[in-house]
Amino acid sequence: MPTDTFTLTKAAAEKYQANSVPAMFEPLARATLDKISLPDGADVIDIACGTGALTRVIAERMGGVGRISGTDLNETMIDVAKAQMPDTPHQVDWSAADVSDLPYEDDSFDVGFIQQGLQFFPDKPKALSEVHRVLKPGGSLYLTCWRAVSPFNGALSEALADLVGTESATKAAAPFSFRDGDLIAALLTDAGFRTSAAEGVVLQRRFDDIRAQILALPIEADLRAAGPDITDQVVAETARRLAPFEKSGVFVVPQEAHLFHAIAR
Ligand SMILES: C[S@@+](CC[C@H](N)C(=O)[O-])C[C@H]1O[C@@H](n2cnc3c(N)ncnc32)[C@H](O)[C@@H]1O
Repeated sequence: MPTDTFTLTKAAAEKYQANSVPAMFEPLARATLDKISLPDGADVIDIACGTGALTRVIAERMGGVGRISGTDLNETMIDVAKAQMPDTPHQVDWSAADVSDLPYEDDSFDVGFIQQGLQFFPDKPKALSEVHRVLKPGGSLYLTCWRAVSPFNGALSEALADLVGTESATKAAAPFSFRDGDLIAALLTDAGFRTSAAEGVVLQRRFDDIRAQILALPIEADLRAAGPDITDQVVAETARRLAPFEKSGVFVVPQEAHLFHAIAR
């Protein structure tokens, strides 16, 4: 995923929801919320919420009490998010907006979340200052960002480097490009948060259709351009490299994230 411009088509948003969310982002959301207790009746915002993987788990845990907002740069992601939860006790307030210019008043929220969004924000200090602005003083921000390159993306990136080119290989590893916990902590401090050392959150990325996992990523466009033969080879090479994680046709690949709890000063 590019880190400067980040535009996703409706088809890409649907593939993300069908493949990446069940394999990875929903398990991460559950593992994250298992470590947190949300205050009763809180005003909560999920920033860079994508198709709402985490937003839905927040709604489940809040059980109809409190207020939830979800916001993402891509309207296509928000459209898919809306379609995923048409009828729940929580009417989520969805908005399509850049994190650097959020459509909310100062001091609006008790709790904010950013799940795997920070690495894509082009101006991280501006983005985190804006998140600080919309949180109440003393409000909590929970932020996750990958701590290590996933074996899945590592294997895919190597296969792409061999068969397609270094640009595609770099793209496949881009979500794992911002892993320095000290740097993230410094950015949070500079934006006005008090933060302590990050915890680690580990999830198991579980899938049986490796082709579908690969083609749900933005490098799908590169593979389409490279043609069906190369695509088959990339899929086969990635599967071969991931063989240690496969049992009876199911891949179970560990992925580790930093979880920061930052408090707005
Ligand atoms: C890897 S996805 C994570 C989505 C969601 N948090 C989840 O866990 O499924 C990254 C998201 O960041 C969003 N994003 C990227 N740049 C953004 C920006 N400048 N402002 C707001 N959202 C942004 C993308 O549209 C995308 O939905």
